[in-house]
Amino acid sequence: MSDQLTVIVLAAGGGTRMKSKTPKVLHRIGGRSMIGHVLAAVGSLQPTRVVTVVGHQRELVAPHVSELVPEAVLAVQEEQLGTGHAVRVALEALDVPPSQGTVLIAYGDTPLLAGDTLRSFAEAHRAADAAVSILSGIVANPHGYGRIVRDGSGAVEAIVEEKDATAEQRAITEINSGILAFDAAFLADAVHRIGNDNAKGEYYLTDAIALARTAGLVVAAHAVDDALQTEGANDRVQLAELGRELNRRIVERWMREGVTVMDPATTWIDADVVLAQDVTILPGTQLLGATVVAEDAVVGPDTTLEDCEIGAGARVVRTHGQLAVIGAGATVGPFAYLRPGTVLGEKGKIGTFVETKNARIGDGAKVPHLSYVGDAEVGEGANIGAGTIFANYDGVNKHRTTVGRHARTGSNNTFVAPVAIGDGASTGGGTVVRRDVPAGALAVSGGPQRNLPGWAQSRRAGTAQAEAAAAVPSAGSDEQSENGRGLGDGAGEQAES
Ligand code: UD1
Ligand code: CA
Repeated sequence: MSDQLTVIVLAAGGGTRMKSKTPKVLHRIGGRSMIGHVLAAVGSLQPTRVVTVVGHQRELVAPHVSELVPEAVLAVQEEQLGTGHAVRVALEALDVPPSQGTVLIAYGDTPLLAGDTLRSFAEAHRAADAAVSILSGIVANPHGYGRIVRDGSGAVEAIVEEKDATAEQRAITEINSGILAFDAAFLADAVHRIGNDNAKGEYYLTDAIALARTAGLVVAAHAVDDALQTEGANDRVQLAELGRELNRRIVERWMREGVTVMDPATTWIDADVVLAQDVTILPGTQLLGATVVAEDAVVGPDTTLEDCEIGAGARVVRTHGQLAVIGAGATVGPFAYLRPGTVLGEKGKIGTFVETKNARIGDGAKVPHLSYVGDAEVGEGANIGAGTIFANYDGVNKHRTTVGRHARTGSNNTFVAPVAIGDGASTGGGTVVRRDVPAGALAVSGGPQRNLPGWAQSRRAGTAQAEAAAAVPSAGSDEQSENGRGLGDGAGEQAES
């Protein structure tokens, strides 16, 4: 027997109930489109060929399928004349239609479908030596499904569609999930013998079951033990329900792999995320896209990370991050905004109310408070003072700032890019750095501080401020105004933590 496997994914239908400009199968849950989930499950079987039938909005569906599975054959079904017609179109799209082995039919809108389910179904189909096998289900409410009609001996006789069913047949709760397996040679013939003389005037693929029976061939039905795997999302309510269930399954899988999830109900993990053992995820956290979190890292609460890489033992608190790489043992947040191109070194720190973009912050370097770091390179061990703005934009172009190793910059600085601060250099509080600072130098800007004695008493007379000043015995004399620190002490003004 040939173990050639052809998989046909039907995705030509309209999906009007989504009420969307986006085709139904492109709606996303768990970080992938619905058809993306199906194609991933199909791909895990390593089929000989995959054919996707596209029709409605194929200008959007076809490129998406090609991006995910470049080798997939796209069959265009101009008019959606039924599942039987769709399969015929799929077979005709192949240079050499399959004449041996198995042809598996799946739908593009069943995002919970797992590769293992398809694999064991295909194996059972082969083992039964059947012309057709049905992945069936027993459901409480069979409305809308094709019913599986069995004869007196219990053998499958036919699938009868809802609209063509008698009242008695409608009471049957055993349904066709839609996933079918065919002997390739049988299908190639049967698909041309299916008619459209039925309530919907469509070519029903399910009519192949009766054709097989009439020809005396084996028809098998295998019950799916997890009915949600073959459930489609037809509207956004069902999409959200399947999305929550998919997430529940993903979160459970990671917990079984050794990840601590404090609150599964508020934790969202996309299908492609990878987590190491002993990662801890705190409530309100979304791990999206291709995010990877290494061992012992703690993420959350209230954190969204998309396509981020979090190093071992790192701590990321109340943070929104995209395309950022956080080193081992580093700390981020609370309230950090990591934009694309952020790379934080080992044991580095991006602290509270800090926004970073296209910035490499070295090992052990710290940006602890209230800063914007854009288009920058911060050397290892450097400390950036509170409230520092890397002014990267001159209104026309973006420029880079470099801060050297173990540099220590003061609070409330502005680095006007392009500019470089050397290794081991310092800047005073409030410095606006417009020119490069040599290694080891201290840069200060702005004039020396002037104190105008008695200003409050003379210019704000009669206010609480003037009263408070007047209550100090020496207020108004030059003596009190002279106790400020001198200019040379500027580097001491940086915030430390
Ligand atoms: C179909 C089955 C029914 C089964 C149910 C499970 C048939 C005749 N009926 O019914 O037994 O219980 O699925 O959900 O097969 N499609 C195309 N081209 C077409 C028609 C459909 O690509 O011309 C695609 C649709 O996009 C969809 C899938 O095939 O993904 C199923 O089509 P749909 O019209 O929803 O079939 P049902 O009436 O639900
Ligand atoms: Ca349907």
